[in-house]
Amino acid sequence: MKTGKLKKRFTEIFGRGREPEVYRAPGRVNLIGEHTDYNDGLVLPIAIDLSTYGLFRTTDKDKIRVYSENLNKMEEIDPANISRRRDDWTDYVRGVLSGLESRAGTISGFDFYLNSEIPVGSGLSSSAALELVTAVGAIRTLNLAELEDLDLVKLCQKAENDFVGANTGIMDQYASYLGRAGAALLIDTSEPSHRPVKLELEGYELLVIDTTVSHTHGNNEYNRRRRECETAIDEINEKFEKDELRSLSEIASEELSAILPRLEQKLANRVEHVVRENERVEEAANCFRQGRIKEVGELFYASHSSLRDLYEVSSPELDFLIEFARAEGIPGARMTGGGFGGSTIHLVPEGQTDDYLERAVGEFENEFDITPGGFPVSPSDGAKFQN
Ligand code: GLA
Repeated sequence: MKTGKLKKRFTEIFGRGREPEVYRAPGRVNLIGEHTDYNDGLVLPIAIDLSTYGLFRTTDKDKIRVYSENLNKMEEIDPANISRRRDDWTDYVRGVLSGLESRAGTISGFDFYLNSEIPVGSGLSSSAALELVTAVGAIRTLNLAELEDLDLVKLCQKAENDFVGANTGIMDQYASYLGRAGAALLIDTSEPSHRPVKLELEGYELLVIDTTVSHTHGNNEYNRRRRECETAIDEINEKFEKDELRSLSEIASEELSAILPRLEQKLANRVEHVVRENERVEEAANCFRQGRIKEVGELFYASHSSLRDLYEVSSPELDFLIEFARAEGIPGARMTGGGFGGSTIHLVPEGQTDDYLERAVGEFENEFDITPGGFPVSPSDGAKFQN
């Protein structure tokens, strides 16, 4: 997005005065490692080249005015009452500002303009981008204390968990802040820590196809999966009299044959998914480094099947797109993000994405009477000051 246009729009909304400062924070696509981040496991996301832009200008008034271009809505936040929840989109902003207030200094009045390229509900973490752009912009424009990278990531995750009430893991905020152009992040969420993995795509492109469907029960099911994983840990500790297992990611795959038969089928399936998905992430990172895209693709398909059959978080729309990918003979595709709708990621030979997408859209429309979205993505840098 052109910063000149954004600034012009800012002036139209808030009036003339000093030039605002422009910040951006990207959405993310998780390449592989799904439902492992809250199990202390491995994930491999990229920050993408679609961002949320935030323009900031301090004022001498005692209020925060925040305008969302996408929603065409202006709201006011009282700096003296930042942590009052409103159960609307401003809770993301309030959650972050209230975290900053207790960690980094006083929040004074400012005008804040938001404009996002990330489709909401697509599973590409528009919410993490909103949190990060708020945090990075507020710290610099309001002269607040700098926080360590991980502290800032956790502060934004906490805003989402405690303020918005979505009990998500750390992956989205991590990727939106620390993402790198040309690389994915191999995050070990148990620490958490990460290593960049240079993506050698060897003639392939990453194409996102967004089902544009988000199932309303998604949030409940997400929380249910988290509880099932906790129950599985308790049962394993009880049945094996070992009380020392703290996360499913501590289980080695060689231990599965002893553990799984002693668990109820559903819990066994959840455990198997997490343990094998962690293995797939490590393998995929190695293959990406070496440009072994066909093998990455196989891991993508395997991850999808496991999410569909063992973890049960896919949907007919997501499955349809993955079956389409198989029928087209591309190396790999999978659902990405929490599931129950949202997006899929496809490894498509360079130069063929337009045709491939057109066919996918046509077949999807025939089947569901819904037009999906689609766009190529490339790994980009995380949140930062723009001008
Ligand atoms: C959502 C959450 C993430 C992660 C994924 C599943 O996107 O926000 O923390 O748990 O689901 O991998």
